[in-house]
Amino acid sequence: MAEVSELKRLAGIRACDFVESGMLVGLGTGSTVRYTILELGKRMKNDGLKIKGVPTSLATESLSLELGIPLIELPPDKKLDIIIDGADEFDLGFNLIKGGGGALLREKIVAQRALRMIVVADQSKQVNTLGNFPLPIEVTPFAHECTMNEIKEILDCEVIIRKVDGNIFNTDNDNFILDAHVGPKIENPKEIESKLLQIPGVVQVGLFVDMCDDVVLATKDGIEVLSK
Ligand code: A5P
Repeated sequence: MAEVSELKRLAGIRACDFVESGMLVGLGTGSTVRYTILELGKRMKNDGLKIKGVPTSLATESLSLELGIPLIELPPDKKLDIIIDGADEFDLGFNLIKGGGGALLREKIVAQRALRMIVVADQSKQVNTLGNFPLPIEVTPFAHECTMNEIKEILDCEVIIRKVDGNIFNTDNDNFILDAHVGPKIENPKEIESKLLQIPGVVQVGLFVDMCDDVVLATKDGIEVLSK
């Protein structure tokens, strides 16, 4: 366990080298990118780095504020220079499964408005084909059981409503998360994503296709930067 968290830390910190003064930076969510945010805060304080951030969750927002990172709303008229975020899985084409922490909707909105997406990950996240990690799908609480049935029809797998300590997990947007246990068989993530998005109760799907440009990967042998 300690080893994985050390790999996450190393990847998180290395990704800060992509960030330059003056940049607008999307700040992802999760235990790996947390190290990036801590390091950015440190570099702002000690090295004169000047950035503005757009957080992808309430948790990231409060961490960033604690560290003194100035935050802005997602600008409607220009793109962010970069977003740095974690992933639950990434495949050979840098397609991602995200949403293990429940922040996929804001993460996707922000990533889509960034010129470059860097993923920070340890080697356990690297797969040939996506789908071993249960696919998180954000849905409206309204009629979520109907939505769940429609998802099951499309994916033909077990779909479970996410709970924490026995209570239904609520996202930052007051929605629910359904975790679809697709098994390692998402051969065509783009097609699955668009089919699921046609269900009216589906708010967003944790498949990020053609969004990630680089992966900062921490392995036992060191850090590798994989670029598309
Ligand atoms: C948050 O909803 C997720 O998309 C995270 O980015 C993802 O779960 C990776 O998290 P860790 O870095 O904690 O593994």
